[in-house]
This record gives sequence, C-alpha cells and structure tokens, in this order.
Amino acid sequence: ARAAEIGDNAQAAWEALREEARGCTRCHLYKHATQTVFGEGPVGATMMFVGEQPGDQEDLAGRPFVGPAGQMFNRALDEAGIDRTEAYVTNAVKHFKFEARGKRRIHAKPDTGEINACRWWIEQEQMLLRPRVTVALGATAARSLFGRTVTIGKERGRPLELPGGGEAWITVHPSYLLRLPDPAMAEVEFGRFVEDLKAAHRVLE
Ligand code: URA
Repeated sequence: ARAAEIGDNAQAAWEALREEARGCTRCHLYKHATQTVFGEGPVGATMMFVGEQPGDQEDLAGRPFVGPAGQMFNRALDEAGIDRTEAYVTNAVKHFKFEARGKRRIHAKPDTGEINACRWWIEQEQMLLRPRVTVALGATAARSLFGRTVTIGKERGRPLELPGGGEAWITVHPSYLLRLPDPAMAEVEFGRFVEDLKAAHRVLE
C-alpha cells in the first residue's frame, strides 16, 4: 500500500512537472517552437533514454522520437528486445531548435547555453524516476547528463557513473545512423548501436 502511495505521488509530481514545462521560458527556444516536448513513459520505468532535442515531427506531435530518428530508434529497440512502452524517453533540450528555409524547418544543434538552461528539467526527471540505467543517445545527451564534453567513440559500450549517482551508458544518436551514406557502414553501425542498447538493458536482468 505504501509503495502504491509513493507511486501515486511520483506520478502526480511528474504530471505537475510536465504541466510546468509547458510554459518554460528558461531559454529563448520556446519563442519559435510549437510546444514543449516533455519526456514520456511510466514514472516507474527502470530504463531512461535521453535524446538531443525534438525534431520537426516531434515539435508538431508533442512527443519525443516519433519522426525518422524515432523510427530508427524503435527498430533498434525491437532488435535489442527492449519494450519502449516500459521505458522513459526524453530529450536533453525540450524545444525544437531550427532554421527556417522557405517552408522547411531545418534542425539546428542546441548550444551549451541551451543545454544548460534545459538541464533543470532533466534533473527533475532523474530525481523523480531514479532509473536504474540511463542511456545517452549522442553527444548532446551525454553533455547534459555528465556536464562535460564526451567522446562517444571512447566512452561507449561500458557502464559509467552519473554525477548524481546511477548508471549510464553512452551510445550514438539514431539520426547519426540515418546520415551514413554507405549502406554497408550503416548496417555495421546499426549493429553496434543495438549491441550498446542490449548491454545497457542487461543491467536490469
Ligand atoms: N531526435 C532527438 O534527439 N529527439 C527526438 O525526440 C527526436 C529526434
């Protein structure tokens, strides 16, 4: 009963946080984005994935990883045997940053100031969920979680300790896989991505 009560409280606190994030003006990105894209998934999740920032489709849908990178992510999760509905999926930066080119909105990389301004939210998400394992998808997520520059090639594939405690794994961002021009290399890199996801997931077994 007590565990259920704590669970209810955490759920309510998370919903309040998400509500508060709708009106976020901690950096300037809210001015041009459609909406805040907050994390999603069960508050009791033991595994948390952190991306970079919402893309065009996420900005419109209000949900993380629903566009092309999201489809790549879903394919890798399937392959790794991870159920996305049981995980918590969020982003380091919660508003879409883009440059307008005619009618198109082209993704622009969030800078350190924007990542740091948004860190408050991810810290709240971490404190509420206390996931057993966190996976940083790409360098922006890693910078946000570790507060330093991370070289993915050097630090992927092994468990790392988060500054606030807890275990994290670093891997590439799924959109990196979408950008690889050589299909053979894309295949190899996809396989490495899946192996990283599996290794992080194994922590829970
Ligand atoms: N890329 C991200 O990092 N996050 C999303 O939600 C979508 C694309």
